[in-house]
Amino acid sequence: DWTMGAYREEAIKQIREQVGDKKVICGLSGGVDSSVAAVLIHEAIGDQLTCVFVDHGLLRKNEAEEVVTMFRDNYNIPLIHADESELFLGELEGVSDPETKRKTIGRLFIDVFQKYADQIEDAEFLAQGTLYPDVIESVSFSGGPSVTIKSHHNVGGLPEKMGLKLVEPLRELFKDEVRALGHELGLPASFIGRHPFPGPGLAIRCPGEISRDKLDILREADAVYIDQIRKHGLYDEIWQAFAAILPMRTVGVMGDGRTYDYALALRAVTSVDGMTADYYPFSHEFLGETATRIINEVKGVNRVFYDCTSKPPGTIELE
Ligand code: XMP
Repeated sequence: DWTMGAYREEAIKQIREQVGDKKVICGLSGGVDSSVAAVLIHEAIGDQLTCVFVDHGLLRKNEAEEVVTMFRDNYNIPLIHADESELFLGELEGVSDPETKRKTIGRLFIDVFQKYADQIEDAEFLAQGTLYPDVIESVSFSGGPSVTIKSHHNVGGLPEKMGLKLVEPLRELFKDEVRALGHELGLPASFIGRHPFPGPGLAIRCPGEISRDKLDILREADAVYIDQIRKHGLYDEIWQAFAAILPMRTVGVMGDGRTYDYALALRAVTSVDGMTADYYPFSHEFLGETATRIINEVKGVNRVFYDCTSKPPGTIELE
């Protein structure tokens, strides 16, 4: 792709100018954006880059292993795998307000990065895979008044005290352009095609208070749901699909016993840039089969809803 080839060259030049001979740390989330940012920056400055993958305990099933393996097998980028799940889950205990959750996670990310940055001599920059829609949406909602809908933990949240400057080479790009750039940089197609996953992770797919039990149930249910979508060949048609665990339990019957378990919401949307979205029109057969599989295979769930809300008025994530 000619355009992305030119963009790549220009971005590499700018990164070199900005960074000089200093060191950069880059937060890897496992998503496409931070991965593309990391590979691009590595092309520009080589081993002046260290990546930090923070496991906040809010990742999907097998996600940490998959991301670390992908990077260690395909790239020679120094990578720190930081298991900070006790810290994050501990601080989130008893927190149910969506913005408080986001701000808590954002603050802890900064603390953790600070900790690792302190261990790297001459680290002066923090790299992030911030995209153009992240920049806009954390300031105002398109077409509406200038209000914050959700505070993205990865935008503008760097307090002065952190003493690191930002490198954001994707700040002018939309998602489809980031994917084209990732392709240009040779990232595996299966990785580039992954659905977006938000920085605050499963925390915002567990409305209300988080618990380890709920997160475990959610991880299993989400894996079954995504497996269903892949088996039906629908993964690439959908912008983003995930399960959310609702803050309620309902009564059911299984075999000859009563159950009192959690309800799940399934979400799937099509979108171009995440700013607006349409719910995905699954067939009734698909929905019925998926609900049955989840309830049979995942202990702790006895009811499944499908979310038919588009954006607006809904947002993609539940919080
Ligand atoms: P919403 O829920 O605002 O989501 O309609 C739009 C897109 O942004 C993702 N999202 C986030 N990504 N940090 C991120 O990196 C965040 O705090 C965050 N919040 C939402 C969401 O998954 C969707 O793709």
